[in-house]
Amino acid sequence: MENNNKPVTLKTFQRMKETQEKITMLTAYDFSTAKYIDECGTDAILIGDSVGMTVLGYDTTIKVTIDDMLTFTKAVANGVKRAFVIADLPFLSYHVSKEQTTINAGKLIQAGAKAVKLEGAADFILEEVNHLTKCGINVMGHLGFTPQYINAIGGYYIQGKSYENTLKLLQAAKKLEDNGAFALVLEMVPEESAKFISENLSIPTIGIGAGKYCDGQVLVIDDILGKYPGNLPKFVKQYTNLQEIMKNAICEYNQEVKSGQFPTEAHSFNLPEEEREKLEYSYSK
Ligand code: KIV
Repeated sequence: MENNNKPVTLKTFQRMKETQEKITMLTAYDFSTAKYIDECGTDAILIGDSVGMTVLGYDTTIKVTIDDMLTFTKAVANGVKRAFVIADLPFLSYHVSKEQTTINAGKLIQAGAKAVKLEGAADFILEEVNHLTKCGINVMGHLGFTPQYINAIGGYYIQGKSYENTLKLLQAAKKLEDNGAFALVLEMVPEESAKFISENLSIPTIGIGAGKYCDGQVLVIDDILGKYPGNLPKFVKQYTNLQEIMKNAICEYNQEVKSGQFPTEAHSFNLPEEEREKLEYSYSK
């Protein structure tokens, strides 16, 4: 494993690709969660636009704005010492013009991110990846299932499901690499396709629903902790049930307040004896 105290950089990712050490990445949206993820030695933290669903309660990521992303990026960056922090450029924040893309990406970097992530590999996106990289802004790509294109795709479908489509994905990935992307998220791609793409790129692939051969893995923190109330996709492994733990604690609190069991002496402040006596005396008059 990498030296746990040394901040992760682009060089770390490249070295991990070369030595085939798996890269760990999780999403985070708030200060304390980011701090715990960092303290566990996770290599990268993504402020995903999945925040729209996990925190803001939207049904897709489409409604997330650059201002939303800035708030959550600042919170996460404040909790991180070692992990490499990446922030998603949200829907339409990199589609209008190169100027607007640069300004929006720059704002995320100024908010504390070390890189931005964007989806797709259309020609104009490749130009933007190229331009941002030249500005000193690190860019992570995102191919396969791209949630910001949900209305065009029409549903949560696996991508690259044939030989031809796998080759197309590899071509797109290579173009992102050639234009300066330092890594690539591969979402909902068959394991064999993801293996083929990973083996034919010199930048690391971070898989989500893309099998075990990617250079790293990413999952949404609310999903692995069992906090998100919706259905979980097949590719998620839930490591605990925070929903149950939270609800049990909240119900216990409610019940203790109603029954008078909380607060006790241990949770209360008291007046000094003589002040209390004065109070009692004045009350009894
Ligand atoms: O928004 C997000 O959380 C993501 C990851 C799932 C890769 O893009």
